[in-house]
Amino acid sequence: MLWEDKAILFSILLVYSSSQVLGEVQEDGQCAELNSTRWQEYRQQRVREEVQYLLLTRNNPDCAQKFDQDSVGKPTSYFNTSRPTKVIIHGFSALGRKPSWVTDLARALLEAQDANVVVVDWIYGASFAYNLVVENYKEVALQISVLVNQLQQKHGCGLESFHLIGVSLGAHVAGFVGTVFEGKIGRITGLDPAGPMFKGADTYDRLDPTDALFVDAIHTDSDHFGISIPVGHVDFFLNGGMDQTGCARSRFASIFLLFPVYGYVICDHMRALHVYMSALNGTCQLMGIPCASYEDFLKGSCVDCGVFKGRCPAVGLQEKSGTATSPIPEQQKVFLLTTSSAPFCAHHILVTLEVSPLDKSAEVEVTLTTWSQGTEHRFRLKPEATVYRRVLAHPVALCLIDSIRLKNTGARLYRQGDVHVKSVCVSELPLHRHEAPLCVNDIDIRRGVPWSHDFVQVCGTS
Ligand SMILES: *[C@@H]1O[C@H](CO)[C@@H](O)[C@H](O)[C@H]1NC(C)=O
Ligand SMILES: *[C@@H]1O[C@H](CO)[C@@H](O)[C@H](O)[C@H]1NC(C)=O
Ligand SMILES: *[C@@H]1O[C@H](CO)[C@@H](O)[C@H](O)[C@H]1NC(C)=O
Repeated sequence: MLWEDKAILFSILLVYSSSQVLGEVQEDGQCAELNSTRWQEYRQQRVREEVQYLLLTRNNPDCAQKFDQDSVGKPTSYFNTSRPTKVIIHGFSALGRKPSWVTDLARALLEAQDANVVVVDWIYGASFAYNLVVENYKEVALQISVLVNQLQQKHGCGLESFHLIGVSLGAHVAGFVGTVFEGKIGRITGLDPAGPMFKGADTYDRLDPTDALFVDAIHTDSDHFGISIPVGHVDFFLNGGMDQTGCARSRFASIFLLFPVYGYVICDHMRALHVYMSALNGTCQLMGIPCASYEDFLKGSCVDCGVFKGRCPAVGLQEKSGTATSPIPEQQKVFLLTTSSAPFCAHHILVTLEVSPLDKSAEVEVTLTTWSQGTEHRFRLKPEATVYRRVLAHPVALCLIDSIRLKNTGARLYRQGDVHVKSVCVSELPLHRHEAPLCVNDIDIRRGVPWSHDFVQVCGTS
C-alpha cells in the first residue's frame, strides 16, 4: 500500500472515531435483532451506511446484545476482552432480507470456541443493486475498523485475537479491514468471496493473503457469484469450486445478480457457509489436497500434502487450517470432493486402472461395494490411455470397501471383446508411505461376464 493511501485511511479512521455516535446498548433485557429493510424505506430515507453490531457469547447464545465500543466493560455487557473475537460479516442481500444463517453460524462458532461473536449488521448498505452495494463496502469496512481500533486501543484486545469471517461480499469487507490494519489481524476467513467486480481488482480492493496473519477461503461458486482466483494462504476449492453436488443447475444464474430472485440460484454460493458450519461441528474432517488444477486433482496427479509437510489443510477453526509449515505457502489451491448434504465429508478414493492398448469404444464399469453399509459406488471409465487414474468421492474409508467389480460395457460393435487389465488398484488420499494400495493384477474381463474380487481387510490396523 502506498503511504499516501495509508495516511488517508488513518485520517478517515480518526475522523470516524471522534465523530461517530453509535446506537444505545440494550439494557432492558430484550434481545437485539438483525435489521431488515424494505425498498420503500430505502428510497424515502436515503439511508447511509447504518451499521449496527450484535454480540453473542456462550452466556447469551440465543439472545443477541447490541454492541459498540462504549458497551465494553459495562457490567451488563457479555463482551470479555480476554477472549478471542469472531466477527461475522454478511454480504449482498437482495430485497434487504436479514440473513437467516447468521445465528446458526454464531451458534456453531460458540460451540467450537469460547469467544465473543460480533455480528456486523450492514443490511441497509448491502441491499438492492449489487453494483451500488459494491460501492458501499469500503465504508462498512472503515466503520468496522473503528470498532476494532477502539477495542484494541482502549480495551487491550490484541489484533491477533480477531478473526473476521466474511461471506461473499463480506469477505472483501473483511479484507479491507485487514488492509487498514496492515495485515496484523489474526485471521480472515472468506466464505465464497464475491467474484463479480472483484476478480480483476487490485489486491488493495479485494481479499488477499496480506490482509491478515492467516487467510483461508472456501470456494463453491466461482463461475457465478464467487471468485475463481485464490485469495488467501489456503484456498479450498470444493468439487472444483464451481458446481456443488445436490444444487440445481441454472444457465441463467448471472441474470439473478441484477434481479432479486436471489434465493433461487444461490445454492452453490451458500454451500461454502453450510460446509463451514458443518466443519465447526467437528463430525468429520474436510481435508484438501494441494494441486495446480481441479483436472489434475481428479486425474490423481496430486496425492499428498508435501507442500504442507504432510499435514493436509482442513476446513474449520484449526490454527493455519491445521497445517504446520512456516512460512505458510501463499495462494495454495487445495481441492476436495464433498457429498451433497451435511456433514459433507467424503473419502478421496483413487482408482488406477492399467490396461493393454484398447480400442476407443472400450468402456469399463467399476463398482466398489461396502456390505456393512449397504453402499455401492459405481462409475464408468473410458480408458483413453493405458493407465487411467481417477479420484472419486466415496462415502466410506478405503478399509471398509469389501469388493471391487469390473464390467466390460464397451460398445456392441467392439469386436475385440475382452479387456485385459494389467492391474487395478484402489487407495485413499492423502497417500501415506506405510499404506500400500489394494491391487489386483492380470484380469481378463469378457463382455457379459463381470469380474469381481473381495478384499479382506480390517480398519485401523496400519
Ligand atoms: C434498524 O435500524 C434503524 C436505523 O438504524 C433503527 O431505527 C431500528 O430500530 C433498527 N431496527 C431493528 C429491529 O434493530
Ligand atoms: C473472561 O475470560 C477469561 C478467559 O476465558 C476467564 O478466565 C474469565 O473468567 C472471563 N471473565 C468473565 C467475567 O467471564
Ligand atoms: C451439528 O451436530 C449436531 C449433533 O452433534 C446436529 O444436531 C446438528 O444438526 C449439526 N449441525 C450442522 C450444521 O451440521
